[in-house]
Amino acid sequence: MAISGITNPLQAHSQAGGTSIRFDKQTKVFRIDAAGMSYLFGINEKKEPQTMYWGKRLPSMDSFAAPHSDGGLSSFDDSINTTRHEFAGWGGGLYVEPDLKITFPDGNRDLVLEYVSHAIAGDQLTILLKDISREVYVELLYQVDPKTGILRRSAQLQNKTAESLTIEQMASGTWNLPRGVDYRLRYLTGRWAGEWSLHEQMIQPGKTILESRRGSTGDQNNPWFAIDRASSNDQDQGDVWFGALGWSGSWQISVEQDQLQQIRVTGGPNAFDFGYRLVPGQHLQSPDFYAGFSDKGVGGASRLLHRFETSSILPHAPSPKLRPVLYNSWEATEFKVDEAGQETLAEKAATIGVERFVVDDGWFGKRVNDRAGLGDWYVNPVKFPHGLKPLIDKVHSLNMDFGLWVEPEMVNADSDLYRKHPDWVLNFTGRPRTEGRNQMMLNLARPDVREYIYQFLDKLLNENDIAFLKWDYNRNWSEPGWPAVAVEDQKKVYVDYVQNLYSILAELRAKYPKVEIESCSGGGSRVDLGIMRLTDEVWTSDNTDAFDRLLMQDGFSYAYAPGVMMAWVTDSPTWVNQRVLSLEYRFLSAMQGSLGIGANLNNWKPEDFATAKKMVNQYKQIRETTQRGSLYRLISPQKGSEQSVTESVSEDQGRAVTFAFLHSSQMLYRYPRIHLRGLRPDQLYKITALDGKLSANTPSVASGAFWMQQGVDVELRGDFQAAAFSLESTNR
Ligand code: DGJ
Repeated sequence: MAISGITNPLQAHSQAGGTSIRFDKQTKVFRIDAAGMSYLFGINEKKEPQTMYWGKRLPSMDSFAAPHSDGGLSSFDDSINTTRHEFAGWGGGLYVEPDLKITFPDGNRDLVLEYVSHAIAGDQLTILLKDISREVYVELLYQVDPKTGILRRSAQLQNKTAESLTIEQMASGTWNLPRGVDYRLRYLTGRWAGEWSLHEQMIQPGKTILESRRGSTGDQNNPWFAIDRASSNDQDQGDVWFGALGWSGSWQISVEQDQLQQIRVTGGPNAFDFGYRLVPGQHLQSPDFYAGFSDKGVGGASRLLHRFETSSILPHAPSPKLRPVLYNSWEATEFKVDEAGQETLAEKAATIGVERFVVDDGWFGKRVNDRAGLGDWYVNPVKFPHGLKPLIDKVHSLNMDFGLWVEPEMVNADSDLYRKHPDWVLNFTGRPRTEGRNQMMLNLARPDVREYIYQFLDKLLNENDIAFLKWDYNRNWSEPGWPAVAVEDQKKVYVDYVQNLYSILAELRAKYPKVEIESCSGGGSRVDLGIMRLTDEVWTSDNTDAFDRLLMQDGFSYAYAPGVMMAWVTDSPTWVNQRVLSLEYRFLSAMQGSLGIGANLNNWKPEDFATAKKMVNQYKQIRETTQRGSLYRLISPQKGSEQSVTESVSEDQGRAVTFAFLHSSQMLYRYPRIHLRGLRPDQLYKITALDGKLSANTPSVASGAFWMQQGVDVELRGDFQAAAFSLESTNR
């Protein structure tokens, strides 16, 4: 990457309302403007990059004086700790969260970074920093998305000294918020079958660490945050600062309110057990840390994120393909997959309009249960005596494409692969190898393991007409040892593993551009903006109870777009809660995301097929709006709410779809009136019920203002009821 001290003159002026990155030579202030956001930082008199402003877009006439480091409070709270650093090395007495911590071979652990130069190219700004005495350079990258104002930040460390150094912590950067005490943090937590719980808490003095130490993204916390002011109680109003990390390994986001009531958010790979030896001439790039600002509440923040994901992150962005309706028999048959059984299900799935048929776990090796077979990626000759081809041909003859489940990073002890290569798993020599779901983790950081995984997937895709891979990952790391390399390099496993995962996905995508991939991890345990760059959709949760899903889908939607959120219609009563739900309810819950069917079609009655056919057909009419549109949470299912209402509005505001759910009627209360949002007030819209539950006095055509101000009544009474309706502009 070219670095120079000269500002690109093409970028040196502001474009009103557009995107610009400017540098003022007199004040040494950088100013990034895009969409509704401005971000300013400058180089202070100590040559430190110092945050100056992050928030709603400022008029271009406003100028900022040259930044000065904070003078500090006392000998206990000196300047280095009270200045709002963009990126600080651990040195010079820093005790707030550092962005970078290094140990040099001579025992020195002091790192103080100073500005050297910068370069502006299009929507990117790079800043070069250097340690005050050693040939250690850090290049900070800022890239701004013109449509949303979301910034991508990362840091690259370059070792130009003559000796190796060890990185003990490396963040992508720090986001500083204006000083204040009334900030509220939102974040997501979860566990298997209980992902995507939304939490809110006031930010207090001290530090909140959101993290995974699990080797992968994990579901205990998801790498996303949103911070607003406690006084703002509206979904769609108020200032919100939000961000998400693009890293599928162990990670951490530290949210710190320091002794001067400043909020600092620092994120990157988890510093716990981290250690990366960087040899002379080598560099290490941090993951991307994305963040944005919205003055339209937390609803506005998630709409910006959804738009950014769709237009900049997902494969095929800015126009990722719409998700097809898929069928998957995992819940119906589990490991009992075979040619005849799958063909029967495929025939039935085709009759209701399914577009993709997916064979899940159990098709390979000696896989009859979860105790054997992982690692042996040949077609099971008993279940599929003629290979996969007859089934794939059958699926194609029914006008569906074919998908297949894989779990490439794992091995069962009972497998030919493990018998042949027991040294390929993560392990510490002479120590137990903890199993999870009877499986161990292959050490994908190893070049030979990477090669094995790439080769088997390449062969599978080369020999079979496969349109889709469901890429599963069903446990967390344990004993993360890598005995085959020098002791000083063993902790590199945390980085090299993830890089090899990404490189396999990227290489397969390049070679098989039509193949789509789902990131699944026993549910939603590997969902982040890193894996999302390489996968087309994600599995939200193994919990497919359509009522539980309302809460989970709501939490999910704070960070990720509904278009990637896979939601299946499964059997009732659900295995999760033994809850009985109508087929309509299950469909309407799943139709808020990307629709799949996971029920046992062999048990369906003719009326179930008729209902499903009708609803799949309706889904195809509205899916562009639900998958791509702007999501408004009209009534949140959080905090034990009896109701849940979502609305999706197409980008051109010509269409809207609304889903309404009732947990249980009480005391003769009617369902609350639904006031829509995001429509054009002066435009006429025709309303259509998807299921006939609109109140009798609903006009068939009215203005956007009417639907937003007067609202819509739906007739929902009883337990676990659901309704849906769409609006379409009469100008279409
Ligand atoms: C976990 C996934 O989340 C399920 O959907 C299914 O694919 C199983 N693994 C198969 O083992």
